[in-house]
Amino acid sequence: MSLVEKYLVLENKPVGEDLFVLKFLASNIVASCEPGQFVHIIPSNTRDPLLRRPISLYDVDKKAGTISLLYKVVGKGTKLMTSLTNDDYLDVLGPLGRSFSLVSNKNVLLVGGGVGVAPLVYLARRLIKMNCTVTLLHGTENSQQLLEEAKLREIAFKYLPATMDGSIGYQGYITDYLLREIKSSEIDHIYTCGPEVMMSVVADYAEKNNISGQLSLEEYMACGVGACLGCARKLRSADEAYVKICQDGPVFDFNEIEI
Ligand SMILES: Cc1cc2nc3c(=O)[nH]c(=O)nc-3n(C[C@H](O)[C@H](O)[C@H](O)COP(=O)(O)OP(=O)(O)OC[C@H]3O[C@@H](n4cnc5c(N)ncnc54)[C@H](O)[C@@H]3O)c2cc1C
Ligand code: FES
Repeated sequence: MSLVEKYLVLENKPVGEDLFVLKFLASNIVASCEPGQFVHIIPSNTRDPLLRRPISLYDVDKKAGTISLLYKVVGKGTKLMTSLTNDDYLDVLGPLGRSFSLVSNKNVLLVGGGVGVAPLVYLARRLIKMNCTVTLLHGTENSQQLLEEAKLREIAFKYLPATMDGSIGYQGYITDYLLREIKSSEIDHIYTCGPEVMMSVVADYAEKNNISGQLSLEEYMACGVGACLGCARKLRSADEAYVKICQDGPVFDFNEIEI
């Protein structure tokens, strides 16, 4: 069930360098929110910018009826989002898109690059309920970008950070950490979200070690509902076939998409 509606903002707080968590009350859609889906929001009370911005479901509390979004300020829309305060109303279209397929009773590896960790948090909560053991690898430039570290430690059985400046955890690329330190024999399934260059290495690692998994793609979006073809992307297996990231994704199996 996807709706366009205005929801009450409960909080909008900084959690790291240019990183914010915005929580809003959306009791009528939480029940249908699945990990990997996104909401398409109008970032301010004006119609400038005109287009909605897609943001993943970071955390969903079905009992409280709340949705949290983790967002990084990168341009006009996300900058405007920072000025929303409690008592404002957020214009939301969603939830949208294909969600992650959940596995049960598995050793699961989550690999998040920067703010790409966002959809993996709600995913981790759901996987734990499915009796999975969750290891979370999270790579950022520095410790100021290791947002909500306490929360990430709480949701994962093992939380393994990597920073480029070595301020916390492994020093270097998260993908080097994966290739050097993670024993493929201990992993049954992988989910990843972040820069495509990172997800490409993760997908290769999975393929070489015969591990199944899924990734979540980010693409420029206009309508968000499959109407404008603004987010078309080539499929891997059939050269002429294209998919719409907003509707057929953003989640795809590793072997489905050209990355
Ligand atoms: C399905 C999906 C889920 C997303 N989830 C999150 C999330 O949970 N948290 C979050 O912080 N961001 C997320 N994004 C990215 C977010 O939508 C963009 O950062 C946002 O729309 C930028 O808006 P802006 O007006 O601030 O920036 P703009 O002024 O539009 O652009 C600023 C800069 O960001 C780049 N940019 C803008 N949009 C994208 C995009 N979609 N992909 C790659 N680069 C882009 C532009 O090239 C430019 O360099 C997601 C995107 C998609 C498609
Ligand atoms: S954003 Fe319009 S079709 Fe995907």
